[in-house]
Amino acid sequence: MSEPSEAEVIQLPRPKAPSSRKARARRVIAVGGGKGGIGKSLLSANLGIALSRRGAKVVLVDLDLGGANLHTCLGVPQPKVTLSDFIDRKVQHLEEVLVPTPFERLSLVSGASDGLDAANPRHSQKNKLIRNLRMLDVDYVLLDLGAGTAFNVLDFYLVADTGIVVMLPEPTSIENAYRFIKAAFFRRLQALAPEDDFAQLVGQALLPRDGQLGRTPWEVVAELRTRDVEKAARLEQVLGGFHPWVIVNQARTRADFDVGPTVASAWKKFFGLELGYLGAVNHDDAVWQAVRARRSLLDAFPDSAAASGVLRVAENLIALER
Ligand SMILES: Nc1ncnc2c1ncn2[C@@H]1O[C@H](COP(=O)(O)OP(=O)(O)OP(=O)(O)O)[C@@H](O)[C@H]1O
Ligand SMILES: [Mg+2]
Repeated sequence: MSEPSEAEVIQLPRPKAPSSRKARARRVIAVGGGKGGIGKSLLSANLGIALSRRGAKVVLVDLDLGGANLHTCLGVPQPKVTLSDFIDRKVQHLEEVLVPTPFERLSLVSGASDGLDAANPRHSQKNKLIRNLRMLDVDYVLLDLGAGTAFNVLDFYLVADTGIVVMLPEPTSIENAYRFIKAAFFRRLQALAPEDDFAQLVGQALLPRDGQLGRTPWEVVAELRTRDVEKAARLEQVLGGFHPWVIVNQARTRADFDVGPTVASAWKKFFGLELGYLGAVNHDDAVWQAVRARRSLLDAFPDSAAASGVLRVAENLIALER
């Protein structure tokens, strides 16, 4: 599978256009993370349920284009219509692949059913999908992303108003989360200024150095300042506006619940990244029991510790808008 070339770098839609009379999603939230199996789908599904229970109209979108399974986390069978039908132009409107769920006000766009082609939609298809997602007439569009840092994953992450990064309270997972955030940041730079020499900088910056994670975004800005003050200022502005939100999943100990705030302040200090913290969700057998029973966590085990964690995160998400 090939990635889009530099020339195909995606043009991000402008966030919010108050004067526009067209319907548009009030808030697009993406749930990503550096790795597979860390709970992105579990959290997306149950946050969707929690937000809809609070009265919001929500669309959950399974964007794990190679391994869609969000419907299982919701406890619904694989829908007959999927994102593939929209990507392959079998249907014209995204609304036609929305399927209802047992939860009031919550609909699902099920993931592409036939893996390979859909796993790497063409650039124009991806742009069209992103435009249409933003135009859904709902309160929240929640995007459940696939694992890794492929351009397709990053582009969907960057299109969101709120970009969530899920991590486990383990050093390897924290490193992966940082890689994901950094890759997303550089992708944003490319998207904003494809004509500049960012591609080269990005390439260099992403190379690991002395076994470390490579340069920080601020180091790239500092280097650019020595050559082009104006461009560096623009970069700095982008960096200031880049604000990922962390959820720590599978917390087991008291210390695990402190990992999020600790990581946020460490990354601010060392990398200059503004990182928000949305809360932690307990490691809980209720999660896999719910998955095995093909039911959602909030539905099957509403009083479990993990369900309480999800509800806290949902409240924090709602509070972001106040
Ligand atoms: N809080 C938790 N407590 C216990 N088990 C959990 C928890 N969160 C996730 N899991 C387990 O991890 C599995 C993977 O979760 P999930 O499918 O949500 O991950 P993912 O990040 O979406 O993975 P992928 O990248 O492969 O789509 C779940 O089936 C569940 O068994
Ligand atoms: Mg998943």
